[in-house]
Amino acid sequence: MTRVLVTGGSGRLGRATLEILKKEGYETRATSRSARASEEGGVRWFGADLTTGRGLKEAVEGADVVVHLASAPYRGRYTRRVELDGTGALLAAARAAGVRHLVYLSIVGADRVPWGYFRVKVQAERLVRDGGVPWTVLRATQFHEFVEQALRGMARLGALVADPGIPAQPVDVRDVARRLTDVIEAGPRRGIEEFGGPEVLTMAEAAESWLRARGVRRPVLRMRVPGALGRGFRAGHLVTDARPTGELTWERYLRGE
Ligand SMILES: NC(=O)c1ccc[n+]([C@@H]2O[C@H](COP(=O)([O-])OP(=O)(O)OC[C@H]3O[C@@H](n4cnc5c(N)ncnc54)[C@H](OP(=O)(O)O)[C@@H]3O)[C@@H](O)[C@H]2O)c1
Repeated sequence: MTRVLVTGGSGRLGRATLEILKKEGYETRATSRSARASEEGGVRWFGADLTTGRGLKEAVEGADVVVHLASAPYRGRYTRRVELDGTGALLAAARAAGVRHLVYLSIVGADRVPWGYFRVKVQAERLVRDGGVPWTVLRATQFHEFVEQALRGMARLGALVADPGIPAQPVDVRDVARRLTDVIEAGPRRGIEEFGGPEVLTMAEAAESWLRARGVRRPVLRMRVPGALGRGFRAGHLVTDARPTGELTWERYLRGE
């Protein structure tokens, strides 16, 4: 039985990935900073911190595949420590343990949009490429939950700001999790794959359907995101024509499917 370790097993994608892996019959392990070594719901948990290296060796020992999902976005220096020092430490542990495949989760457009977090993701992709462990990078588009979190945050401030020129292709974490099992099955590609949701819609459309579905009354302010960042987004760098795509649409997610 293939033994798979998921870093960031407590996160949005991590939880969905563990569910699918268990259903597919993989032996599953996961890390979280707050976990104590335990067996819960068919998952073996390890306490591990990427910034200090605590617990990484124990977690990786005996794993055939590592699916690296742990991340701490938009937190400045801490983000770099998790993504760069942490990924480096994980690779060293995986090399020493003879891991056969490391899968790293990145973001569609990371190489094309001039944004701090995206730049860090590209640097981490390079570490994975040069890390001495057979690898695959899967770049996904924005997760439904992440889009909803951003909209909810803006609603609290009083209005949703949406650039109608920015195409988005949100994807469901359950679809990404299923794609990850395909990637594991296919083995190390030593390359980058992309994966997006089933439809492309503008941020303004996504905002309007969210307001309807959640019964929230707020204005949608249609404003252009300025500068190189806005140009990058409007150029369609957050979407991908990669096939297959996920199946669950934004509307279906909003209906609670
Ligand atoms: N969100 C999106 O829309 C999106 C889109 C494309 C790609 N991605 C990528 O997909 C991956 C998963 O994203 P997500 O949204 O599911 O993440 P998330 O919900 O924010 O979860 C982050 C995970 O990272 C772990 N973590 C944070 N700091 C850590 C540290 N110092 N050491 C060890 N673990 C740490 C957290 O675990 P504990 O707090 O339990 O320790 C948590 O499980 C990330 O690589 C992200 O860049 C995300």
